[in-house]
Amino acid sequence: MKVAVLGATGMVGRTFVRLLENHPWFKLGALVASERTAGKRYGELVEDAPEEFRDMEIVPLGEFLKEPDVDLVFNALPASISREVEERLAEQIPVFTNARAHRYDDDVPILVPEVNPEHLKLIKIQRENRGWDGFIVTNPNCSTAVLTVSLAPLRRFGIKRLHVATMQAISGAGFSGLSALAIQDNVIPLIEGEEWKIENESRKILGRLDGGRIIPAPFEVSAIATRVPVLHGHTEAIFIELERGSVEEIREAFEAFDPLKELGLPSYERPLVYADVPQPRLHRDRGKGLTVTAGRLEKSGSAFKYVVTGHNLVRGAAGGSLLNAELARRMGYI
Ligand SMILES: NC(=O)c1ccc[n+]([C@@H]2O[C@H](COP(=O)([O-])OP(=O)(O)OC[C@H]3O[C@@H](n4cnc5c(N)ncnc54)[C@H](OP(=O)(O)O)[C@@H]3O)[C@@H](O)[C@H]2O)c1
Repeated sequence: MKVAVLGATGMVGRTFVRLLENHPWFKLGALVASERTAGKRYGELVEDAPEEFRDMEIVPLGEFLKEPDVDLVFNALPASISREVEERLAEQIPVFTNARAHRYDDDVPILVPEVNPEHLKLIKIQRENRGWDGFIVTNPNCSTAVLTVSLAPLRRFGIKRLHVATMQAISGAGFSGLSALAIQDNVIPLIEGEEWKIENESRKILGRLDGGRIIPAPFEVSAIATRVPVLHGHTEAIFIELERGSVEEIREAFEAFDPLKELGLPSYERPLVYADVPQPRLHRDRGKGLTVTAGRLEKSGSAFKYVVTGHNLVRGAAGGSLLNAELARRMGYI
């Protein structure tokens, strides 16, 4: 299948391009970005671009939209322009997007393949509602992706309430997102809109598909998001109240979580592993960036506490989106 990456020169777009090198199902047919970089060779713009894509020219978005000669699109454009672009493309072809524009639409799933694969069923409803041949599947914001992978195996213990404090990497703010002066030697306890996203996206992802719509999970989520001077890899400290379970049972559940291993998805890696002291520099590249590491699990009063770390650009963005497309293809939606 021929695919395009929109926003191919940005932080997430570059990660898509790297992950698509030698992909057995998806062949990169177009690299799309703004007028600013249009016509330039990809290798000129991205120093460490894979050899096979270095000579491809950037196609400006406007031109691409006139005749999108591909079978599927991965979107890594800013949210501000994504709604219209995604809807136009989804009339014809599947769109797998990192942008938030459609995440909160009732008929659009926020998909984390290992957590809520059944939400793919919304595609049928979305197509009926909108009369599209294609569809839109979103993935969550980066910190929610890491968080929900760790929450999925805890569902069986009855999640009552959770508090999360994030320590998010600089690359989560995009290529030109933060000045070095602002983040060097600093912690910034404000990421605009992030806490709302964590609190609401996680409840939609862990929600139940019922009568053609998702009923959000009933538990309370409260988040504080901070930016820290780490290049890649979001770390999160989680305090969680469960209806039942012990430290031993929770650790066993983390270690056993490997729900899609039988499907043979080309990019699939074990989603969750346990380490005593999870750290972004040591653990973010595990499973080619798709594996989340949980650790520091302890009882804390009547609740539990643990720490997770995961790669924001791979698990939290391009890698998650690619896995979504692989799952949709395996399930016959493409
Ligand atoms: N960074 C993360 O960890 C992360 C995680 C999850 C989701 N996301 C979401 O993923 C998307 C991309 O994020 P990012 O961090 O990769 O951003 P970024 O580094 O700022 O990259 C933005 C990309 O969009 C292109 N672009 C910007 N304005 C455009 C326009 N008017 N027309 C066409 N192309 C345009 C840029 O092309 P030029 O180079 O030509 O300007 C560039 O390729 C955003 O929606 C973001 O919220 C990011």
